[in-house]
Amino acid sequence: HQKLRLEIRAQNNYSRIITFFTALCPLYKQNLRGDSYMSAVIIDGFSIAQNLRQRAAEKAALLKQNGVEPCLAVVLVGDNPASVSYVAAKKKALAEAGMADRSVNLPCDVSEEHLLAGIGDLNRNPSVHGILVQLPLPSHIDEQKVIAAIAPEKDVDGFHPVNAGKLLIGEDGFVPCTPLGIIELLNEMRIKTDGAHAVIVGRSNIVGKPLALLLARKPANATVTLCHTGTKNLASFTRSADILVAAIGRPNAIGAGMIKPGAAVIDVGVNRIPDHTKKSGFRLAGDVDFEAAREIAGFITPVPKGVGPMTIAMLLHNTLKAAGSTGY
Ligand code: GUN
Repeated sequence: HQKLRLEIRAQNNYSRIITFFTALCPLYKQNLRGDSYMSAVIIDGFSIAQNLRQRAAEKAALLKQNGVEPCLAVVLVGDNPASVSYVAAKKKALAEAGMADRSVNLPCDVSEEHLLAGIGDLNRNPSVHGILVQLPLPSHIDEQKVIAAIAPEKDVDGFHPVNAGKLLIGEDGFVPCTPLGIIELLNEMRIKTDGAHAVIVGRSNIVGKPLALLLARKPANATVTLCHTGTKNLASFTRSADILVAAIGRPNAIGAGMIKPGAAVIDVGVNRIPDHTKKSGFRLAGDVDFEAAREIAGFITPVPKGVGPMTIAMLLHNTLKAAGSTGY
């Protein structure tokens, strides 16, 4: 982490110099983009997700007409503020799509045994189609054990080893929502993935690893580089990316100097920055230095209202799939 931090700091200094020049000299910008200068198209994840949520509501209504009310159980352990707000957003989306919500809130000192027993009950309940345990869990609970306890056919997060394995070998299963949402954004914006070099920074089970598999397989058919804390000279990889995905968890980790002119930049970071001018006491920032990067990139997702809303839209999609909706 220390090495990555030093490298990011060096790159950010480089980015500041680029930003300084691009601010001062329009001709320099023109040369950077190779044609007349335009700042990046902002990918409106919020509106794209709204459309998908509308379609999900229509499919839910159709299922209900056939006597099946799609139902998701969202399990929240403790009161981590970010988790509380994510879960609230997921429950609101469920309600708006006309789906049932069987939520379970447990105290942060709940025993692993009690949590596993609760998951067992949800597994056996035929009116519950999907189960989501919000992560991270408190440190006394073994996350992998909890994920493995969810019935694979109700695992709408796609984190169960059976679903992770199916994604690896190209069988149909549940695919994690954030990577699925990113693929949807690229398709919606007609960003060419076939033959493109996609560079993902971050190797998590939730985003980086499943996204690498989705982008590498057909029909996306991209050439994928997966960077992580062990990557030497990160910028040498990111600067060759036609599609750059930042899933690092550090604000401003990707500066303008790390971006290929015209690239599609997908920012998965949701970092809370203390800000006393806000009622909440914080503002959200991505992993990308947005203001600098938008002057270099061809497409860029904002934070908020970029990838985040797509994760929720894809959760509805996976819940409908679990409830037996056809057409996937
Ligand atoms: N924590 C951060 N992202 C996610 C997600 O997509 N699903 C769950 N269950 N927990 C998360």
